[in-house]
Amino acid sequence: MGITDQDTSAISGVAVVPPGLEEAAAAELTALGCQAGPPLRRAVRFQTNLAGYYRLHLQARLPFRLLRELASFPCHSRDELYAGVQRAVDWGRWLPPGASFRVDATGSAPGLNHSHYSALQVKNALVDLQRQQWGARSSVDLDDPDLALHLHLGGGAAALSIDGSGASLHKRGYRAAMGLAPLKENLAAGLIALTGWDGSVPLADPLCGSGTLLIEAACIALGRAPGLGRRFGLERWPDFNPQLWQQEQEAAAALARETLPCGKALAPIVGMEQDAGVLEQARSNAKAAGVAEALDLRQGDCRDFEPPPEPGILVCNPPYGERLGGGLGGGEALESLYADLGRMLKERCSGWSLWLLSGNPELTGALRMKASRRIPISNGGIDCRWLHYEIR
Ligand SMILES: C[S@@+](CC[C@H](N)C(=O)[O-])C[C@H]1O[C@@H](n2cnc3c(N)ncnc32)[C@H](O)[C@@H]1O
Repeated sequence: MGITDQDTSAISGVAVVPPGLEEAAAAELTALGCQAGPPLRRAVRFQTNLAGYYRLHLQARLPFRLLRELASFPCHSRDELYAGVQRAVDWGRWLPPGASFRVDATGSAPGLNHSHYSALQVKNALVDLQRQQWGARSSVDLDDPDLALHLHLGGGAAALSIDGSGASLHKRGYRAAMGLAPLKENLAAGLIALTGWDGSVPLADPLCGSGTLLIEAACIALGRAPGLGRRFGLERWPDFNPQLWQQEQEAAAALARETLPCGKALAPIVGMEQDAGVLEQARSNAKAAGVAEALDLRQGDCRDFEPPPEPGILVCNPPYGERLGGGLGGGEALESLYADLGRMLKERCSGWSLWLLSGNPELTGALRMKASRRIPISNGGIDCRWLHYEIR
């Protein structure tokens, strides 16, 4: 699965990933046969070929987006951006006037401090060029463009990329139903990767909500490729190779299995949720993801949780509510929920390891347990910690 197989077209790109998961994402890209660079902030640079780029869209679980770089050029002014975009590639091939497009921008350069304005400058450069060359211009389609362009400005340079996914890659398609404050699917997959769980010991989430952590875990253990059955923007690109795409789809589909790769049975995956409606959502999501059989989902209060007999890994993302002391409701009830959770874990889950996503350090204090690792993670803009505890 090296980058020399099948085709030789070199692709340089950037995977946009949740903050805190950069290293895990670099490891994932490497495992999928790409050359991943050192992790950046919210991003990982990679090099691959067309087959590898397709493989990432079908199999990578952690990225939001996989941007493919078309060109990079020096950029210290608006004029340099305008001229650089026009010269960047053969636009007659990549964006003929009949194709629609959109432009997103990040970063800044002198005279280009607002990403909206920078995106507009790219759009103007393109439509002006099209009018001059072909007397017609592309329309802008924000929802479903034929070509989704991304501009990144920084360090005196502009990088112009195209986004292969269309809708963000975290939208796997199995989650019609969402509980309160669900985790994004790619973040959940990344949190599971950080636990090192490999399916050989039980996994349990006593506050499982709509089940995202457990569903992603089951998909990882049973080789369910997250991108199968989806349509991607790259299928509309001029260099789309249907045979290669088909080959990568078949390879991704062939990874699905009912046991672990070693042939052993998958260990129990158990979830508990107090809200019957939310639990129903977890069940329907698990069914849509094709892993319902692997999950044992029960309705109940986490205080009554009975773990499987053999120790394993607990994961959970309890409600954080408002900051305590902020005069807002729910603080005391949440504090006693965390205190009771801590008691239940110490009484019944000795020998297990716990990973808890905390958005509120005051609440986690009520667990009365000492974390052995604290990994900073951003969950939808909230500064969180993925806390690891060994339960004695
Ligand atoms: C932040 S949500 C979890 C979201 C979940 N990770 C997902 O992606 O869908 C917290 C969940 O804990 C549930 N919950 C709150 N108190 C509980 C309790 N005492 N026992 C069990 N579940 C509880 C809530 O109903 C909610 O669904």
